[in-house]
Amino acid sequence: MPRTDASEEGAQPRVPRLIALHALAASIDFERYFRWRRAHEGDPFYVRFPGFGAALFTGTAEGAREMFQAPVEFLEPPRPNPIEPLVGAASLILTSGERHRQDRALLAPAFHGARIREYGEIIRDSTLREMSGETGPTWQPGARIDSRAAARAITLRVILAAVFGVDSHERRVEYTAGVAELLASFSGPLMLVPALRHGLLGHAPWDRFIVARDRLDRLIRADIARRRQGVDAPSSDILGMLLSTRYDDGTAPTDDELCEQLRTLLVAGHETTATTLVWGLFHLHRAPEALERLRMELREAGPGMRPIELAGLPYLDAVCQETLRLHPPVPIILRRLTGPCTLRGVALAPGDTMGVAVPLLHSDPDVWSDAARFDPDRFVERKYRPFEFAPFGGGHRRCVGAALADYELRIALATILGRVRLRLGPRYAHGPAPVSVPHNIATGPHRSIPFDVLSDLSH
Ligand code: HEM
Repeated sequence: MPRTDASEEGAQPRVPRLIALHALAASIDFERYFRWRRAHEGDPFYVRFPGFGAALFTGTAEGAREMFQAPVEFLEPPRPNPIEPLVGAASLILTSGERHRQDRALLAPAFHGARIREYGEIIRDSTLREMSGETGPTWQPGARIDSRAAARAITLRVILAAVFGVDSHERRVEYTAGVAELLASFSGPLMLVPALRHGLLGHAPWDRFIVARDRLDRLIRADIARRRQGVDAPSSDILGMLLSTRYDDGTAPTDDELCEQLRTLLVAGHETTATTLVWGLFHLHRAPEALERLRMELREAGPGMRPIELAGLPYLDAVCQETLRLHPPVPIILRRLTGPCTLRGVALAPGDTMGVAVPLLHSDPDVWSDAARFDPDRFVERKYRPFEFAPFGGGHRRCVGAALADYELRIALATILGRVRLRLGPRYAHGPAPVSVPHNIATGPHRSIPFDVLSDLSH
């Protein structure tokens, strides 16, 4: 399909001035908003965020390649950053340069190869416990399941076990409430409009956010202190690992830095995966052939299959990838420039910001045919380049938890489908899919997607 590319025609893309309107559109439905901009202005195009300035966006594989392969020394996270209050300045998401490289080197081993395989049983167990009614309704015939609540409970449990080694009911309840409160208090307006970040005698949204953040930090700091005092046995979880690592100069992260890094993992590591699990269940239950094919693959694999083997099943893999293609939970990937760079023919200077609009990348007609359709086969038939399919971003900042998220999605989905037959709630069985809206750090369906449990397959 021909593309009208303003830069190719020699014209600079226009920087929009209607800040409020654009912000409103962005907080409603990023996917639609990006499609609208591409249709009107071609690629690349500017988007202006109130309080954060404008960013030049691309939604093409070529543009994504340019951004992900730009010289690392010229790239840093956007500043000011909409999620800074949530994750903190020491968060891996926000550091840059040598500090980022070293922090990544500390964290990355926790999310690689053998370490990830250790989490397999945790993921299966977390899914089964949720289904047995530990925090929500028991998944028995006749029950109605709020998929978002259930998926969040599963993924939060996994991250709590993996990061803090939390296995006691009381601590999990405290953390679950703490994380939920923090995320609920960090609303879209607080994220997008820095002017709202002021207290008002304890009654402003900002006040509520600070209270929630302090409460979660108290839990995290108590865990750090216990470990430092050797109260809990030294452990192979991520906190244990972080406490024993050192930077290149021999110093260790301070408690404040550790707290923000751990808060980041809690926040970044569960909502994204939970949302994807919900979308996966949603699409499978609207595509009976795909669902049956996946069930057959799982039946042939047998109930005793180990998590590591499950994760290698080709159709299960294709279903998860197709879900991430259609609904990338992080729809915007940004880089601020500290040196000159060119994006799709537009020259950018230090201080400028560029970005990949992932929903556009994942529906680029040059790469994806019939892009709006849920079709896992496209991932069975071919492999896509990292610039064509980038739900986890790319380059030196590609999601550090990607392998855990991939593993988790496959095992949780397989565990659920191996145990029960579900039916989509009546509102969504047919008709348009819910739109994806920003929730906090990730986007997700704008309203809850309920499922009815039809039968229990475990007997
Ligand atoms: C389906 C699930 C997930 C998706 C779609 C996702 C997506 C992303 C994306 C798009 C980025 C930005 C990459 C870039 O700037 O190029 C990112 C960064 C990050 N993610 Fe994830 N993520 C997921 C799960 C996780 C999990 C499970 C964890 C941790 C346990 C995690 C931790 C992080 C961290 C710490 C960063 C910052 C990396 C850096 O700047 O070096 N994410 N993620």
